[in-house]
Amino acid sequence: GKVAVLFGGASAEREVSLNSGSRVLDALQRQGVDAHAFDPAATPLTAIEHAGFDRAFIALHGGIGENGTLQGFLEMIGLPYTGSGVLASALAMDKWRSKLVWQAAGLPTPGYRLIDAETDAQAVIDSLGLPMFVKPVHEGSSVGVTKVKTLADLMPAWQAASRHDSAVIAETALLGGEFTVAVWQTSNGLQALPPVRIVPATEFYDYEAKYNRDDTQYNVPCGLPEAQVAHMQDLAVEAFEALGCRGWGRVDFLLDSAGAPYVLEANTAPGMTDHSLVPMAARAAGVDYDHLVLTVAAMASL
Ligand code: DAL
Ligand code: MG
Repeated sequence: GKVAVLFGGASAEREVSLNSGSRVLDALQRQGVDAHAFDPAATPLTAIEHAGFDRAFIALHGGIGENGTLQGFLEMIGLPYTGSGVLASALAMDKWRSKLVWQAAGLPTPGYRLIDAETDAQAVIDSLGLPMFVKPVHEGSSVGVTKVKTLADLMPAWQAASRHDSAVIAETALLGGEFTVAVWQTSNGLQALPPVRIVPATEFYDYEAKYNRDDTQYNVPCGLPEAQVAHMQDLAVEAFEALGCRGWGRVDFLLDSAGAPYVLEANTAPGMTDHSLVPMAARAAGVDYDHLVLTVAAMASL
C-alpha cells in the first residue's frame, strides 16, 4: 500500500522530526514500500485525504503532530496511523496529567509541583529538594528544560520554560541514572525492548546531548541486574498502558540513589534519528532499523 510519512511540522522539534522522518522514509522506500513525504507545515493536511494513501507513519514530534490533534484529524478522514490514539497522545504530551494517571495507577514518578510567576521558590525547594528539573509541561526533546541546583536558579528556569509553554512543572531530579525503555507492538503483543542507560557528558540529557554531541554514552545492555531490567520493562509497559498508548513508544526513567526506577514521561512519537534511542534498543534486540520501521507501519490503526 501507499504510505504517507508525516514529518517536519511547525513545533519546536521540527528539526528533529525532519531528521527522524527522512530516515523513516528512506527505510520504507529501501524496503520497496510506496512511501511519500508529507510536511504539514508546507502542505495543507487536507491534501492527504484523497491521495490514495492507505496508512500514515507519524514521524512528527511535539505540538499538534504528537498531542492528539493530528490523530483526531486522521480518525476523521479514516486513515490508519502509527502509534497512539487521540486520548493517549494528548495525555502523554502532558507531563503533569501523565503523572496524575500514573499516581492513580500506583506507578512511581518523581515528586513535582506546577510552578508559575507567583511561586514561592523556597517552598518548592523545601518540598522537592535540590537538584530539580524545571520543564515546560507540553514539550519534547528537553526543549526549555533546566536543571536547577540553587534557589537563585529556580525562577530563571521557570522563565526559560514559560517561553515555550504556559504550564511549567518542577520535578525532583533523582540521581541514580537516566534510562529509557522502548515499547513496541508486534504480532506477539506489546513488548519492552532492552533498557538503554544514558550517560550524558553534560549536566543532563539535554537537547545538545540528544542530537548534537558525540560524547553522550549509551549503554545497552544497560548494566543493571536482570531482575531490575525486568522490573523496569514491566513498569514501562504498565506506564504505557495506563495512558492508553498503543503501537510503539518510549518510556523514560530516572533511578533514585537506591536504584529504584521512577517514570518521567512517555513518548508516543519517539525520535528515529541516527542518535535516537528506540532504534538503538531495537538493534540490541537484533531488530534492524528497517524491520523496526516496517513493523511500526504494519501496526498502524484507527
Ligand atoms: N521527543 C523526542 C523526539 C523523543 O522522545 O525521542
Ligand atoms: Mg518527551
